[in-house]
Amino acid sequence: MRRRTLLKWVSGCLGALCASVVGIPGVSFVLQALRKSGSDVDRVRRVARLKDLPIGKPVAVPIVGAREDAWTVHPDEVLGRVWLVKRPSDAKDGAEPTAQVAAFSATCPHLGCAVQHDAKENRFLCPCHRAIFGLDGERVVAKKGSQKNPSPRAMDLLDCRLVTDKTTQEVWVEVTFQKFEQGLTKKVLKA
Ligand code: FES
Repeated sequence: MRRRTLLKWVSGCLGALCASVVGIPGVSFVLQALRKSGSDVDRVRRVARLKDLPIGKPVAVPIVGAREDAWTVHPDEVLGRVWLVKRPSDAKDGAEPTAQVAAFSATCPHLGCAVQHDAKENRFLCPCHRAIFGLDGERVVAKKGSQKNPSPRAMDLLDCRLVTDKTTQEVWVEVTFQKFEQGLTKKVLKA
């Protein structure tokens, strides 16, 4: 091999090496951003067996998953909580009623405190500024003379479905866990 050809070849290799060193962080940044934005499939969690939910009494379930900070992945952390409300659907023509489940984010749409269940009144109550919601998640309008409901919108309803486990044949509740901006009248997905 001639000296000039060899030099060309070596400088080409060095150029390619430098480009890959510079490019790798960029590629990993893009991949990380894609992974963080996630798909709906990533956010679906199997949270409870249908038979374990009482009718008309909300049950809180944790949403567990991996949390990433700048350097570390923390597996199995509690990312949030969801309230499940089971109710019987309307039975038609004497057929057996099938249960339906609604899932609400437990994060208050006002300023983000954790919404609790007020067992005495069987409704939802946010202890921070006393926003009140019905079991359907709708804001309860304050009676005349009492404090105005501070929440700008109803509790955030999450996508929820019933699935039958292929192995056990048990019916499970699956929820698509998402977070929404607080303080807005409309439900806007957090970036
Ligand atoms: S954060 Fe819930 S009422 Fe203010």
